[in-house]
Amino acid sequence: MKKIIIMGAGGHGQVVADALLQMEKATPVAFVDESRELHGKELMGIPVPGGNAEINKIEHDGIVIALGNNELRRRIFSELKQAGENLFTVIHPRAIIAPDVTIGDGCMILAGAVINTQAEIKDNTIINTNSTIEHHNVIGPHAHIAPGATLGGEVTVEEEAMVGIGATVLPRTVIGSQAVLGGGSTAIKDLPDGSTAAGVPARIK
Ligand SMILES: CC(C)(COP(=O)(O)OP(=O)(O)OC[C@H]1O[C@@H](n2cnc3c(N)ncnc32)[C@H](O)[C@@H]1OP(=O)(O)O)[C@@H](O)C(=O)NCCC(=O)NCCS
Repeated sequence: MKKIIIMGAGGHGQVVADALLQMEKATPVAFVDESRELHGKELMGIPVPGGNAEINKIEHDGIVIALGNNELRRRIFSELKQAGENLFTVIHPRAIIAPDVTIGDGCMILAGAVINTQAEIKDNTIINTNSTIEHHNVIGPHAHIAPGATLGGEVTVEEEAMVGIGATVLPRTVIGSQAVLGGGSTAIKDLPDGSTAAGVPARIK
C-alpha cells in the first residue's frame, strides 16, 4: 500500500482524500496544510500534523497537491519534483478511463469523470467530479477541468488553464494557457492565452 500525503485540507483536499481512501493500492497517511487551526487535528480520520514543513517527518511514498489554484499548484509541483518527491496521481475507482489514455504525475481524476480514448492528461491536472473529456483531448499540465464540464473531441486545454463548473467546450477548440472559461459557459472558438471568457457563447471579458 503506497503511503500518500495530501497537501491541502480544504474542500478539494477532502474530495481527493475520499478518492484516495477508495483506492486499492494507496492510502492517505496525512494532510499537510498551513492553517494552524487544523494542526494536531484529524479530518476524515486522517491526521493533520502541520504544514508543509512536516513532510520530511512523515513516512511516505508520494504526495498529491490538492490545491485548486493552478499557478500555486504548478509552483509547488516543480519545487517538490526538484526535491526528489514522487507526485502521486489519485484516480477515483468510479472514474471511467479508456485503457489507452495517458495520465501524468500528480493528477486528480475524481468520481464520475469520463476520459475517452486516446486523450492525454498531463502532469498535475485536476479532472474534477463528473466531467467529460472526450476522445483525443490534450489537457494540462497544471490545468483544472471543474465539476460537470463537458469537452468535445480533440479539444486542447493548455498549461494552467481552467474550464469552469458545468462549462462546455466545442470539439477541436483550444483553451489557451492560463485562460479561464467561466462556469456554465460555452466556448465555441479558441480562447487566447491568459484570457477570461464567459457566457453562451463565451465572450472574452
Ligand atoms: C468567469 C469568471 C472567472 C469571472 O469572474 P470575475 O472576473 O470575478 O467576473 P465578475 O463576477 O466581476 O463578473 C463580470 C461580468 O461577467 C459576468 N459573468 C461572470 N461569470 C459568468 C459566467 N460564468 N457566465 C456568464 N456571465 C458571467 C457577470 O455577470 C458580470 O457581468 P456584467 O459586467 O454584465 O455585470 C467567474 O465568474 C467564473 O465563472 N469562474 C468559474 C468558477 C468555477 O467554475 N470554479 C470551479 C470550482 S471547482
